[in-house]
Amino acid sequence: MTRLLETATVAETRARIAEWRRGGDRIGFVPTMGNLHEGHLSLVRMAQARADRVVVSVFVNPLQFGPNEDFDSYPRTLDADRAALTELGVDLLFAPDEASFYPRPREATTRITVPGLGDILCGASRPGFFTGVATVVAKLFHIVQPDLAVFGEKDYQQLLVIRRMVEDLDFPVAIIGAPVCREPNGLAMSSRNQYLSAEERARAPLLYRTLCRLGEALQAGRRDFAVLEAEGVQTLAEAGFRPDYLSIRRPDLEPPTAADRAFRLLAAAWLGERTRLIDNIPVVSS
Ligand code: PAF
Repeated sequence: MTRLLETATVAETRARIAEWRRGGDRIGFVPTMGNLHEGHLSLVRMAQARADRVVVSVFVNPLQFGPNEDFDSYPRTLDADRAALTELGVDLLFAPDEASFYPRPREATTRITVPGLGDILCGASRPGFFTGVATVVAKLFHIVQPDLAVFGEKDYQQLLVIRRMVEDLDFPVAIIGAPVCREPNGLAMSSRNQYLSAEERARAPLLYRTLCRLGEALQAGRRDFAVLEAEGVQTLAEAGFRPDYLSIRRPDLEPPTAADRAFRLLAAAWLGERTRLIDNIPVVSS
């Protein structure tokens, strides 16, 4: 079994990876905030199938949390993450601490913003979120200098924001999107699912089912997008969710037209006091 190397500093991480690169290895990268579940592990396997060496980062990034969000309570399970990565044969775990990763006070830290794409949907509900994500991913890309990086489509808007940043700033990194991993009942896997009570967990798959029902309506030829969105919101609200948004978009997240055949349906909704669930599905109609 490959021995899992672990680094905590930028210098050590760069030195390890430079050695592999000198040997001609192709570097794959999976950035995470830890608390790894099957969804993350599927991203790692995807990177392993395409690269000679795979680096995984575990870092709960303070820049992407709002003042009243769950930064302090976000699950941190580094021992279990290390064990899972060892089992998978990952080459390097980069797990920096906040003080060394962001040596300046938060308000003085340089940021990267992706305007437009980063301001709609989740960006509208969580101001600063995508700036925090783009900033940490850009910094990690500079440290790891991967040939490819894998991101889950569960965070579809995040995937597009990263693609845009890479394109605009000419990062030489191929961005690979990986399909959403779901529980057998359809619930998209997420570290935040563990905030759900047993009763909420039983209700949570309705988010996915609602998106699927709207997808079927589009495939049946309906194009009254606003009415469909309102129907979806009502279904969720009646089941006790607090919908944040439910939106029918084109795959590039622009508003759709009646002539479109390919769509992305995205939703975010609160269930209970603590848990904001997000999900999305692709839909193609003939
Ligand atoms: O998707 C996540 O877990 C995070 O947003 C990421 C990409 C690791 C950046 O902190």
